[in-house]
Formats: sequence, structure tokens, C-alpha cells
Amino acid sequence: MSLVLLKQHSPKIIDGKAIAQSVLDEVKSDVERYTAQGVEPCLAVVLVGEDPASQVYVRNKVQKAAYVGIRSLEFRFDADLSEDELLTQIDRLNADGSIHGILVQLPLPKQINETRVLERIHPQKDVDGFHSENVGGLSQGRDVLTPCTPTGCIRLLKDSLGDDLSGLHAVVIGRSNIVGKPMAALLLKESCTVTVVHSKTPNIEQVCQQADIVVAAVGKANMVNASYLKADAVVIDVGINRIMTHEKTRLVGDVDFEDALPMVSAITPVPGGVGPMTIAYLMKNTLQAVRLQHPQI
Ligand code: GUN
Repeated sequence: MSLVLLKQHSPKIIDGKAIAQSVLDEVKSDVERYTAQGVEPCLAVVLVGEDPASQVYVRNKVQKAAYVGIRSLEFRFDADLSEDELLTQIDRLNADGSIHGILVQLPLPKQINETRVLERIHPQKDVDGFHSENVGGLSQGRDVLTPCTPTGCIRLLKDSLGDDLSGLHAVVIGRSNIVGKPMAALLLKESCTVTVVHSKTPNIEQVCQQADIVVAAVGKANMVNASYLKADAVVIDVGINRIMTHEKTRLVGDVDFEDALPMVSAITPVPGGVGPMTIAYLMKNTLQAVRLQHPQI
């Protein structure tokens, strides 16, 4: 009789909700420490117009700030606000020493130039990490404010792979300024070998097959399936796509979760994976902004 030992493959579903909760709890205790020393962390959230999705995002941000003990201030403006009026408002928030973080909810109405607005935010208050000084700082591997979603993705990767990501081959699908590009820079800072693929890349599937880590951030429902993946890859799905099935709308990621699951060592679900990390890291960034503005505490 021979004994055959089969390697157990038990893919891990990364619980973004639970990990986001531990990030929020870390932030909460840091907030208490700062408050006890006389600095009350404060985040200003600016919303222009009535975009329903943006209103939901802003409400969630304000609620999470309250949970961790960060004071939040909401500045709401009509959709016809001029760019100059918005820039003046940002100048006021920059000058106010009691405000540590400034977030301007995107998208902005079309009469307002987004780049001009984001560049006006003081880099040390730029909790989105979108200011060119922070983008440049990240690309040089300096300790600056970095975009919330990709920073949250690094935390999810470390939860599965441990703190040392060095030498792993990471493929990032998508090259947006909000996710793809900063994700690549953060992975490079972790000493990964990084490949970015995008709409003009031939053979995306074959490139992904080389990857220890796949980060999908393209906005194409179920694009990545098992045939894209090397055995035991770790997959982070940043996509949030609304699709119709059986006359109902459903949220799915850029990864075909059911198909990919047997192939991977770990994968994020949608919803409940990357999503909750974005707000958690906005809170963490607000605290990082406090640190940058009060280095002596
Ligand atoms: N709108 C959609 N995503 C984001 C984000 O990460 N930051 C801001 N400010 N607005 C957004």
C-alpha cells in the first residue's frame, strides 16, 4: 500500500473588512495619544455639487472619522462654484493650523480644473496623495503622503505574504493616477519587480502568468480569470463594476473570483476586499499629516 500525500490547496480569502477595522483601531489609539497632547486631528472634506456617489463617499468618510475620533469639517458648495472661489477656500484651509488634512472629493464640475485645485492643497495636508510633490516624493521612495487605495493594497498584501515583499514579481493592470501608477511606485519601494500592463499592452494574459502578485485596477468586469494566473499567486482586485445578471445589478471586480479562487494562494473579494481599506487609509493618512505638521510630538 502506498501513501500518497496530496498538497492541500486552501486559498485564503483576504478579509478587507477585518483588516480595515484593525487599521481604524490603530488610528483610534493614535488619535487618543495626539488629543491627550493637545493636538486634535482634523480633516476637512470639500464637496462641490450633488453627485450622488460622491455624497455617499463623503458621508462614509465623515462617519469613519467620527469613529476614530478625528474631527471632520464638511464644506459643501453648489455645482456652479467657480474655480477661483474653490481655490480661495483651499487657501483658507491651508492657512488654518487646526486643520491637518484636506480632501476635495472628485470628480469636480467641468468648469473647475482638477489639477489646479489638487496642486493648491498644501502637500503636507494632501491626504489623497495626489499633489505632484507627493507623487514625486513617492517615486523617489521618500516618506510622503501616498494615495489611500494603493497604500491599503500594500497592507493587504503584507497580511498574506508577510512584511517582506522584496524580489516578488508584481504585475499591475491599469495605469491610472489614482491606483495603477502609485501602486507600481509603492511596490517598487517594497523592492518588488514591477510590470505595469494597460490597454495598449499585447499579451496581458501571458505577462500576468509570470506574476507572484497581480493587482487588477482596470475597471473591466471579470477580466482576469484562472488562465491569467500562476499557481499560488496573490491577487488584489481593485475593480468595482456594476453588472446586470438575472435582471439584477451586482457588484463584481476586475477578477472572475470563482474562476480564480482554486488557482491562488490568496485573493480579495468584491465587495469586502480593497473597498474598506480606502477609507481606513484616509484616516491613517490624516494622522500621518498630523505627524508631518507636528514632528515634535
Ligand atoms: N473620487 C473617487 N475616488 C476618490 C479618491 O480617492 N479621492 C477623492 N478625493 N475623490 C475620489
